[in-house]
Amino acid sequence: MEKKKITTLDIQKMKKEKRKITALTAYDYPFAKILDKTEIDIILVGDTVGMVVLGYKNTLPVTMEDMIHHIRAVKRGVSRALIVGDMPFMSYQVSVEESLRNAGRLVQEGGAEGVKIEGGIAMRDRIRAIVDIGIPVMGHVGLTPQSVHRFGGYRVQGKDYLNARKILSDAKAVEDAGAFSIVLEGIPAELGKRISEALAIPTIGIGAGPHCNGQILVIHDLLGLPGDFNPKYIKRYADIGESITDAVRNYIDEVREEKFPSEEHSYHVEKKKHLGSA
Ligand code: KIV
Repeated sequence: MEKKKITTLDIQKMKKEKRKITALTAYDYPFAKILDKTEIDIILVGDTVGMVVLGYKNTLPVTMEDMIHHIRAVKRGVSRALIVGDMPFMSYQVSVEESLRNAGRLVQEGGAEGVKIEGGIAMRDRIRAIVDIGIPVMGHVGLTPQSVHRFGGYRVQGKDYLNARKILSDAKAVEDAGAFSIVLEGIPAELGKRISEALAIPTIGIGAGPHCNGQILVIHDLLGLPGDFNPKYIKRYADIGESITDAVRNYIDEVREEKFPSEEHSYHVEKKKHLGSA
């Protein structure tokens, strides 16, 4: 049966109906196919691809070409979830015009159904302009990873009163600019609750406590695939990294012991029709 495609309207309705929104990242076709078998609502092709797939120390080296390449792969495997593509560092910061051009590329060349932009008040003109040309925008405030150097590392934001007020104002600016939802990352649970109550658009938390309207995790973190970044908010639901290591070790042993390939994994032809009796 054809699956009903999730739209930004469905995501907004879920907040009104107090149903939690589920979101995960994906970066390639096999993961997209696996997620497509589930009822996940949003698949974010995040610029975390730079860290968990490409091995960079942070998300800053990720390019538009990287994002388009990975969004395309995910798009081919997804029939249900809403696909959001991350705008990489320097694809929207310089000017409104560049942000429009690049948001358009993620949709036109990648197949994204929405784009995500980090930043609040400073980005509201970009968000408004992108929404105005018909592209849904997901905001992202709090610990915005593209500002890692300004933060002096991946540190929880909004711990003091002034910083918390600033993040709340950023979130409101994102909503006012027309975003359909917003990611709240790396902030105290109390602030996550306050913002979720203050906004009409859904909040999607990652390290922002249990009161957000939805949650997102990086799929590699959820599955226990090895990475270099292990914040407290991650919950591992599997240890796939260990399973892969075990499987590869078994393979190596079986090849060395001449157990693989066996008859069962070998092709045969009738000798006389092929190599003759030689
Ligand atoms: O790039 C990403 O994967 C993200 C999520 C962690 C929200 O921005």
